[in-house]
Amino acid sequence: MPTTPQPDPAALDTAPHTRPDRATTRALRDADPALRAAYRLCRRITRRHDPAIYALVQLMPSVLRPACWALWAAVTALDDLADAADVAPAERAARVETWTRALGHDLAAGTSTDPVRYALVDMAGRWRLDLTSLQGAMAQTRDDAHGLRFADWAAWRAWCNKEVVPWVEQVRHLFEQAGAPMTLRLDRQADYERFVDGAQLTDVLTDLSTDLAQGLLLLPQEALESFPGAETDLLQGRWSPPVAALITELTALARRRVTRPAMTRGMHPGAAIVLDAAAGLMRAQLDAIEAAGPTLLQRAPRPSLLTRLRVLAPARLRSSLAWSLTPLTVPGPRRPAATANLLSPVVDDTGLRPPPPHLSGARPPQIDADRMPAHVAVIMDGNGRWAEQHNLQRSEGHRAGTAAVREIVYGALEIGLRHLTLYAFSTENWKRDAEEITAILAILQSELDEAPLRDLNVRQRWAGWPDKLPEDLVDSLRREEHRTRARTGLTLTVCINYGGRDEITRTAAALAQAARDGDVDPHLVGEDDFIRHLPHPDMPDVDLLWRTGNEQRTSNFLPWHATYAELYFTPGYWPDMDRRDLWKAITEYSRRQRRHGAVPGPVASRETTACLLTPELPARH
Ligand code: IPE
Ligand code: IPE
Ligand code: MG
Repeated sequence: MPTTPQPDPAALDTAPHTRPDRATTRALRDADPALRAAYRLCRRITRRHDPAIYALVQLMPSVLRPACWALWAAVTALDDLADAADVAPAERAARVETWTRALGHDLAAGTSTDPVRYALVDMAGRWRLDLTSLQGAMAQTRDDAHGLRFADWAAWRAWCNKEVVPWVEQVRHLFEQAGAPMTLRLDRQADYERFVDGAQLTDVLTDLSTDLAQGLLLLPQEALESFPGAETDLLQGRWSPPVAALITELTALARRRVTRPAMTRGMHPGAAIVLDAAAGLMRAQLDAIEAAGPTLLQRAPRPSLLTRLRVLAPARLRSSLAWSLTPLTVPGPRRPAATANLLSPVVDDTGLRPPPPHLSGARPPQIDADRMPAHVAVIMDGNGRWAEQHNLQRSEGHRAGTAAVREIVYGALEIGLRHLTLYAFSTENWKRDAEEITAILAILQSELDEAPLRDLNVRQRWAGWPDKLPEDLVDSLRREEHRTRARTGLTLTVCINYGGRDEITRTAAALAQAARDGDVDPHLVGEDDFIRHLPHPDMPDVDLLWRTGNEQRTSNFLPWHATYAELYFTPGYWPDMDRRDLWKAITEYSRRQRRHGAVPGPVASRETTACLLTPELPARH
């Protein structure tokens, strides 16, 4: 990842009233001298390497700053190892790997002989941060040492996401732990991703001269090819008309991407001020890039001190007011972080457990890999009728349904399913009595608090919109999503306040906005563009859509993803389901013949075709 060269330590420290160690001292009352020295070093590294980042950290409450310095110093340490000009690429990669492995050991030991890692280990323990999510970013930095080429913007964005986003996420998590969450509304996710893209593009443009000196051009071929000759000229250090036109285009693109006023709406004001100031500094940086002309190829441009102060001075005033109004959670005594081998799969050392076996001892059926669905989606229907059947309140039916959810997740893990999506509360369910709605939402909250899936290899996600949902529930959903994001097993998406038409409408709106921003050409919009603007672009098509409760409709569930799903309707009520029912559904699916519009081959037997036309309902319930 590029960093801004040309240290300019004093220029951006707009806080002369903050004595060098006051923040550190306050936040680290219990720290030993070596640890304080480690944090001081991280502070100096941040200030020297990236004064703009340092200034942004100064906008945060003092209790959070040491952790941010430690994170930034770690990024810098890794970048320096990956970028060392006088070292061969293989050796650079090996050094990054050694550093990363050492961090894994240091996390297990709770200390380090390296000051930057010592501060990082300490802040992870202090703030209960899970650093395993950085393993991908560190592996990417290691691979960067071998050089980088991107065919198109999608590949460039994937690199940026892998390398930058996990570090930003740590900062977000830090805010969350301190009680000032930078909660992102789901409908702002695209803004956030663009913002990160814009920040990275600004960085790449700023560091063009340094990177070119090393023969690196961190821009996608797709962008370079639009300006014939620009790539050769750039690599030869020649400022030519195509180079000038390319820079103008990319600067404008970066400016559009970092200008996302809607992104911070609804966020804690302190967090919003930091992000808005970051955007302001980046725009100032882009002004400097534009003004640099040919000198862009000789040195990194910098905005003037006055320009930077214009952004930072009001932000400083507003941020100290905003933070003074928020009681922050100061970290408790340090707790040793979990053992983590940062370059190997998370499940290795993290104490994740397999699902408990079914009481009957039943084991999953053997399904051929090419017959396994990748994605099963379930409409969990019949809770109310189950309760009536047992002379209970409807809410008891919903409560009983949670046991079935756990069972189905265990079954999904045992059979090796990759994606399971559960419909828990629809946008139409608001039409129910307030009492029932409150009960359903309270049950969902208590499931999240109890977190029965905590130690399983399950990546939990939420699909739906925050509007109208209790804030605590939204926070818990986000937290769970964040906590389990690096898990490699089942992806469990729970749909709460989800509506298929709502999802499509919002996706269309995001696409329209992208077209307006010039990121998408409306004449060339394809299905892939639509998918990229969905809230979870990586969610695969539904292979099997299963509805319990003896109803044969899809009730506004996953219309985009399920257009070619095999439908499977069963009569039993949801609370009566267990993992064996999921296995039965998957077995039934494995026998179906899917055509996707094509003519079936000669191997299709009459029996299979009959099964496709009249799916057999299981008789157990
Ligand atoms: C499904 O069960 C759960 C939710 C919709 C929240 P229902 O509550 O719809 O149960 P029935 O269909 O009334 O039996
Ligand atoms: C669908 O069930 C929604 C969920 C299971 C969350 P409903 O019971 O709400 O659907 P309809 O009203 O029968 O279509
Ligand atoms: Mg129902």
